[in-house]
Amino acid sequence: MAAPETTFTGNRGLQLEEPLIFDQGRPGRSGVDLPAAAPAGDRLGGLERQGAIGLPGLSEPQTVRHYLRLGQKNYGIDSGFFPLGSCTMKHNPRQGEKLARLSGLASLHPLQPQSTAQGALELIDSCAHWLKVLTGMPAIVMSPAAGAHGELVGLMTIRSALEARGDARRRVLVPESAHGTNPASAHACGYAVESVAANGRGRIDMDVLKEKLDSDVAAIMLTNPNTCGLFETDIIDIAAAVHDAGAFFYCDGANFNAIVGRVRPGDLGIDCMHLNLHKTFSTPHGGGGPGSGPVALAESLAPFAPLPYVARGADGFLLVEHEGQGGGKRLGRVKGFHGQFGMFVRALAYMMSMGSDGLRQVAEDAVLNANYLLAGLKDSLSPPFEGPCMHEVLFDDRFLAGTGVTTLDFAKAMIDEGFHPMTIYFPLVVHGAMLMEPTETESKETLDQFIDALKGLAERARKGDADYFRGAPRLTPRRRLDETLAARQPVLRWRPAGDKAVE
Ligand SMILES: Cc1ncc(COP(=O)(O)O)c(C=O)c1O
Repeated sequence: MAAPETTFTGNRGLQLEEPLIFDQGRPGRSGVDLPAAAPAGDRLGGLERQGAIGLPGLSEPQTVRHYLRLGQKNYGIDSGFFPLGSCTMKHNPRQGEKLARLSGLASLHPLQPQSTAQGALELIDSCAHWLKVLTGMPAIVMSPAAGAHGELVGLMTIRSALEARGDARRRVLVPESAHGTNPASAHACGYAVESVAANGRGRIDMDVLKEKLDSDVAAIMLTNPNTCGLFETDIIDIAAAVHDAGAFFYCDGANFNAIVGRVRPGDLGIDCMHLNLHKTFSTPHGGGGPGSGPVALAESLAPFAPLPYVARGADGFLLVEHEGQGGGKRLGRVKGFHGQFGMFVRALAYMMSMGSDGLRQVAEDAVLNANYLLAGLKDSLSPPFEGPCMHEVLFDDRFLAGTGVTTLDFAKAMIDEGFHPMTIYFPLVVHGAMLMEPTETESKETLDQFIDALKGLAERARKGDADYFRGAPRLTPRRRLDETLAARQPVLRWRPAGDKAVE
């Protein structure tokens, strides 16, 4: 394509296709004055390049505008309501971002002497302390890099504990209502995964569970609240049955937002539970930023937790990297350095600014908001289960029956209404699932607009306007992708100036 010398700016630029940065500007133009390169001599063994390397030639304002325009075409939690179920897309407080960027924290080097990083070690220790208080569990592994990583680390810890008592078990039970990463983690840890059916109330069927529990089961992995947005009301009985079988009770605690400050999982008999700091403690998923999945452990699993960990010694804080004499039970390192330090800063800032009353209110408001959506939409959409929900509300596609509109079409039409769609086709326990998680940070006005928009769409579908849905979205920079296999075209990849674009 001929390189346009300039690009459209202002509002008009937002409506038009944004050319690749390589198709903008002029060769040789630059936003900075670079000093002339010193002759390489023979330092590069004749490998130095003489010609242009195909960098785009733009001034600084042209570059800034290009990226700003691209950013404005995107949709994020800062641009609007983002009810993606199972992701807890809550507002990300700027305070945490500001603190994580303080140079005394951001510029630390993980290999600098511990005596010069006492503040950072104390911060990790404080974050760990408050997470233990909130979960009611005596130990916590801070290093896992995300929720799924926490699951793997938790299961590895369970396996070590079982091996230490000479008990090689092969199966992990995973309820149908579990998050999808649970069976994947159990499989990655070498276990055979066995599904446990849900009952008509969207919870674990206790009879099925009891039938499956035997001396070959290493653990159950229960997501609570589960992916139907429901609290497992039999959780105390589940814990007792699992322990009677000599197995461990793993809880996927990524949905902790629904119960933080109100329920301490340790009191429910849970042995091992990961938290998604990037869901409950701000910094939500979706931006591709780092996650953090600390794993809280019961007394029985604590001696097997991975190294290193932060401890308070006589001379200050220290990172314990080796076991003392008579040790040898602990797992080794599961992550480079000390985990996602910047996430600990944000999570601690969040906990301290909220306080215990504020955290409790987080859970209460998150649950209230989800139930507000349920109440507003239950007559227009179809909730599969009776009764109130926790922090997320699930609908199936029965309300679309006979309309020719699918869950996917409905979600695409929501984009034109100005909303990011909810999670669709997950969980698998209901047909054409629509899982919405409003979080506590959305206002009543936003929820009302959302309810009105969805009611309007449901009405439109019922009136038989299926083509409208199939053609959506219409108001976005990109229209709907044709995801059928037949539509797949060879992908053109960019090559430096002079070369032809190749497949
Ligand atoms: C319930 C639940 N479990 C596990 C995970 C996996 O977490 P991650 O994406 O950080 O690996 C998620 C992700 O959002 C989740 O919602």
